[in-house]
Amino acid sequence: MTEQGATVSHRALHRYTGLPVDLPDLEAQARANLDPAFYDYIAGGAEDELTLVDNETAWSRLRLLPRVLRDVTHVDISTRVLGARVASPIGIAPMAMQHRASKDGPLDTARGAAATDSLFVMGLFGAGSAAEVAEVPGSAPRWLQVYILKDRERSAAAIARSAEQGYGAVMLTVDVVRQGNRRRDARNRWAFLQSDGGIEDPNEIFDHALTFDDIAWFRERAGIPLVIKGVLRGDDAAACVDAGADGIVVSNHGGRQLDGAIATADALRDVVAAVDGRAEVYVDGGIRHGQHVVKALALGARAVFVGRPVMWGLAVAGAHGVEGVMRGFCDEIERAMALCGVRSVDEIDASLLAADLREPR
Ligand SMILES: Cc1cc2nc3c(=O)[nH]c(=O)nc-3n(C[C@H](O)[C@H](O)[C@H](O)COP(=O)(O)O)c2cc1C
Repeated sequence: MTEQGATVSHRALHRYTGLPVDLPDLEAQARANLDPAFYDYIAGGAEDELTLVDNETAWSRLRLLPRVLRDVTHVDISTRVLGARVASPIGIAPMAMQHRASKDGPLDTARGAAATDSLFVMGLFGAGSAAEVAEVPGSAPRWLQVYILKDRERSAAAIARSAEQGYGAVMLTVDVVRQGNRRRDARNRWAFLQSDGGIEDPNEIFDHALTFDDIAWFRERAGIPLVIKGVLRGDDAAACVDAGADGIVVSNHGGRQLDGAIATADALRDVVAAVDGRAEVYVDGGIRHGQHVVKALALGARAVFVGRPVMWGLAVAGAHGVEGVMRGFCDEIERAMALCGVRSVDEIDASLLAADLREPR
């Protein structure tokens, strides 16, 4: 099938599945299906939700300078992440508690990701079995996200198993040194992390003593690339890379941790400049449109991740819903690239951004 043919089928699938075409409508439908406390757990952020809101508006504030007359008959949105091919530069962020959104939880997410050749990051903690997810057929890469527990051997064992299970990278999340103060959850008395039928409190079980010195140790245990998630500063990103990280995710955890933290769209440029090509840089938080993805790539990200919209798709239609969300993004990315006059992700560069946005601060 030609690239153009693939695009037409994305649109056709939307019409065929009857899923809402637009994310606010999908969220409304998911909300109607879900226990209100679980909806709040997904949708909410920390404290006044300043960072939650700012994540999305920061992408919308950036302005593009599209090129014209570039023959965009064929637009190829595929790319590579850590050397592995993916159908598009948008992957699925790790999220806990997916089994509360659909019966098969992360298995459905993995199926939806596989159907669209999208990178899927399996959240190890509180989200199901990494081994079962690894068995879902599909050719796109999957990564495993971990937190480091005080019981380091438990984390080390999961990391050591990840390569033989077929995961392409380990993603270590470093921004949960205290659980963010999520008011909606407090009001709902939400017990956020349940594993093996019990409730585990991240404040109790996560190791809060991690430093850059530990990165090399984990990289060695994993034997596969290590991606550090939850970095917002150039100096931290450079220190992670010096310590052996292969990738950095610029993330504020979807505004769920430190309220008042910088929006990721605003943090990305400095991190890209500090990493200076020595590792891949990704970004998540508030990505809701194809044009947001083009902006992220123009600022130097290799790829982006999306969180909540995938949960909405999962809650509305399981694997099919995840597939619909990812196809919708692919469709929008293709259209935004064509309208920017670029035929491949390699042609996306800083010149697509309004002049004042091109240089690091
Ligand atoms: C319901 C939910 C659960 C999450 N669980 C995790 C997790 O277990 N580990 C992690 O690293 N990030 C987790 N995150 C953060 C996401 O990986 C990601 O950083 C964020 O959702 C991206 O922002 P977006 O939802 O605006 O796209 C979670 C986010 C949500 C919404």
